[in-house]
Amino acid sequence: MQIQVALVPSTWGEERRSVSIVVIDVLRAATSIVEALAHGARRVMPVASVEEARIRHSEFPAGEVLLCGEREGRRIDGFDLGNSPVEYASDRIKNKTLIFASTNGSKMLARAGERISRMSEKGQVFMAGFVNMGAVVHRLQTQDRDCLIACSGRDGGFSLEDAACAGMIIDGLRPSNPALDDEAKTAQILYAHYSGSIESMIRDSFHGRYLQSIGMGEDLPVCASIDRFDIVPVLQNGYLTA
Ligand code: MLT
Repeated sequence: MQIQVALVPSTWGEERRSVSIVVIDVLRAATSIVEALAHGARRVMPVASVEEARIRHSEFPAGEVLLCGEREGRRIDGFDLGNSPVEYASDRIKNKTLIFASTNGSKMLARAGERISRMSEKGQVFMAGFVNMGAVVHRLQTQDRDCLIACSGRDGGFSLEDAACAGMIIDGLRPSNPALDDEAKTAQILYAHYSGSIESMIRDSFHGRYLQSIGMGEDLPVCASIDRFDIVPVLQNGYLTA
């Protein structure tokens, strides 16, 4: 098994081979999406922009879908839900289709979906955070195919929590003795540094500090909790399901 990591969105180009793609967005899209599917959401459609979310929403019968997502961490005007995982632990989302537009995570998912659809040999797209770590590692181990771990990052740049999460996935895959590229090795070193202090790493990360500054600090322990759910969101035909 070969593992490539894209620590920032710009380091995965079209030249990369057919692989499964694991999209990470610890703060907070992956955490919210896992939470939503665990609490009975039917499916989640990740979209790349707010405009696209509104267009998609208008194509569904009223009451069947919820518009979800954030800009600058806050719920978008006219949307039903924001991107706080605690909002998704509710009966409101049960059996609903969620159209999900977050700044980085859903954009990355949409990109991964397009990329997979262009491959001749089909891979799969998974979503990962600390909350579903064990389930993701198990899935990758059992399928035993090459994978690209894509960190959503922040506005096209690096984010500490996504890189450390990538490193934890790699650490879990050690028994399979995978071949690692340089970014994967870097992620592994970062995780080794922060293992045992994931929550404080998240609190001290750039986006973690930003979320605290806008009053969303209560989301951080949720995003830091390891193996909260035994769910791997898989993207198929434009929808994530558990
Ligand atoms: C994102 O996709 O950029 C994030 O989930 C941002 C956030 O709401 O914290």
